[in-house]
Formats: sequence, C-alpha cells, structure tokens
Amino acid sequence: MKVAWFDAEEWEKEYLSDTDLDITFFEQPLNENSLEKTDGFDACTVFISSDINREVLENTDVEMIACRSTGFDHVDLEAANEQGTQVMNVPEYGSNTVAEHTFALMLSLSRKIYSSLERTSEEHRFEHSGLTGFDLKGKKLGVVGTGAIGLHVIRIARGFDMEVIASDPEPDEEKAEELGFMYVSKEDLVRKSDIITLHCPLVDATRHMISGSEIQRMDDTVIINTSRGELIETEALLEGLETGKVKAAGLDVLEGEGKIEDDINYLSDNEDLRILLEDEKLMDRDDVIVTPHNAFNSREALERIEDVTLENLKQRRNTVNQP
Ligand code: NAI
Repeated sequence: MKVAWFDAEEWEKEYLSDTDLDITFFEQPLNENSLEKTDGFDACTVFISSDINREVLENTDVEMIACRSTGFDHVDLEAANEQGTQVMNVPEYGSNTVAEHTFALMLSLSRKIYSSLERTSEEHRFEHSGLTGFDLKGKKLGVVGTGAIGLHVIRIARGFDMEVIASDPEPDEEKAEELGFMYVSKEDLVRKSDIITLHCPLVDATRHMISGSEIQRMDDTVIINTSRGELIETEALLEGLETGKVKAAGLDVLEGEGKIEDDINYLSDNEDLRILLEDEKLMDRDDVIVTPHNAFNSREALERIEDVTLENLKQRRNTVNQP
C-alpha cells in the first residue's frame, strides 16, 4: 500500500524506517494547497494541522485518511461519506498524557509557577510577594466529559484529595462509584465547581458550551481546557476574567488556534480576525496560561500514535465514518 504521510517530522521517518508499508513523507499539512501530493497514493495520514475539507475530499483519490489524533473535527466527515473515503482515528493513545498536562496547567495556576519563574530567572529575586497560590486539596473539580481522558483526570484529582463532580450525557455510574465522584447537570457543575476542566469532543452540540450564560453562573472559578478551543466562547471568557467570575484559565487549545500562524493579510473573514484578536488578549493576560496544543506531546504517546496508525492503515481499523 502506498501511503502519503503528511505533517511528517524527522523523528517519525526514523521510527517508521522498518515498516512494510510504502511511505512517502511530506512535511507540510494536507489541505487544498498540497492536494496534488496525494496523486498515486492509496491512503494518507494527517495530523491536526491538516484541513481535510470538502475541496480536498472531492479532489483526491485516496481511499483512506488515517488521522494521527483522537479528534477528527479537522475532517469534513459528511464529504468523506459522500466520496466513500474511510476516515480513521487513534481513539486511545495518551489519556494519561493529556490528563497529566491538565494537571500541569492546573498546578501552574494554583502555584503561580509562571510568575515564580519570572521572579527567579528574569529578575533574580527570591521573595514571595504576589506569589501566594491556593491548594487543590479540598477544592471541587468539575469534569465535563468522563471518557478516557476525563476519567484519568478524576483518578489524579482523587489522589490530590479533591472533591469531584462531573457531567456527561452518557454517565458511567459504575466508574462514579469506583472512583468516588458524582454526576450532576452541567448547570450545577458550572455553579458549584472551584475548577472546571473540559474533556468532551467538539461537535455542534458542544460548540461554545461555555459561553456568557455559563460564565455568569461562575464565581472566582478556574477554567482548564485541553480539549478544543471552540468549546469556549472566547469573548465571554475574557469578560469573565475582567469581572472576576473567572479567576484564571489554563488553556492548551484556543478558538481559532489554526489561524494564528496564517498571514494576517489572507484572513479576509472578520470573524476570524475578531477571534484572533481575542486570542491575543488572552495570551497577554497574567491570569491565563496558554500552551500550544501540546497536551498530547510526550515521547511515549507519540510512539503509541504511530503504532496504532500503522495498524489502522493495514487492517482498516478505528473507522469513524460510514463511507
Ligand atoms: P472520549 O471519546 O473517550 O470521551 C469523550 C466524552 O465526552 C464521552 O464520555 C462523551 O459522552 C462525553 N461528551 C460528549 N458530549 C458531551 C457533553 N455535551 N457534555 C459532557 N460530556 C460530553 O474522548 P477522550 O479521549 O477523553 O478525549 C476528549 C477530547 O480531548 C477529544 O475529543 C479531543 O478533542 C481532546 N484531545 C485533546 C488533545 C490535546 O493534545 N490537547 C489530545 C487528545 C484529545
């Protein structure tokens, strides 16, 4: 099978050197501009920086697109179904990895790690004023989405002696009993949590699930998002930070993050520009920590992604659509 491997990094070429698939590596993402590179290939594999829109799907002959990610919201599944293109994902490669990053963000905020580092490494000062943090022990953590990552977050949270409440349209009562947490409605979770962390997929029903009305119900609440930026309405988050409804935010994902590297002259859409300016405002704030969609990025997790993607391509496993 001939495979076009987009978004390729140097280490991947070495890691995959022994495979029996016929792989050609391309460093750039797959989108309408790199579309012709799929000519003559049976399958391709992409990372989240690729944009598999309708134009791409209608103009490529590849039979399979293997996403090297859990999320597949960068693929137009409806167009893939129409074209008979099979789309696969990596359902489970690093729930611990993303959960650990979630706590990295939480602890960075609770212990003011970023300001502490500035104090020592930039100012070479060793005093405590302005660096008082808060304990996680005893705090109420609201987990939105109790799938693989959410459940791992809950395991870690219980280790910190946090109280956990959760919301999910498909509650797992057995796990709730085993791990010692309680399901509540999203409204209750938003009102009662000291810290809210998001672990559900981005679909139409979850887009802007945290918007003005949710933020109005918060009170000095910390928000962590390692899921997808579009789950939060950025304008409402900025407003919440200004008014103190939101105490701080730890974000691995931003609404419009895919456009941040784009040349501003090509952003013709006013909506894109507005979101980018809001992202800038978030990144400039002292009470917000932003990491560059890096929660998945541990050596162990990356190798698991490669292994599962190879198996997906060889055995046509983990299909997420109905081509
Ligand atoms: P999963 O599929 O195991 O769990 C998702 C859970 O969300 C399910 O239990 C589902 O019922 C629940 N859910 C769906 N709609 C909901 C709603 N409206 N409210 C509350 N819960 C809802 O997925 P997993 O592996 O836990 O991943 C979660 C998300 O994390 C992915 O969709 C992806 O967007 C993101 N992710 C981010 C990464 C990063 O590097 N920042 C890496 C991997 C995943």
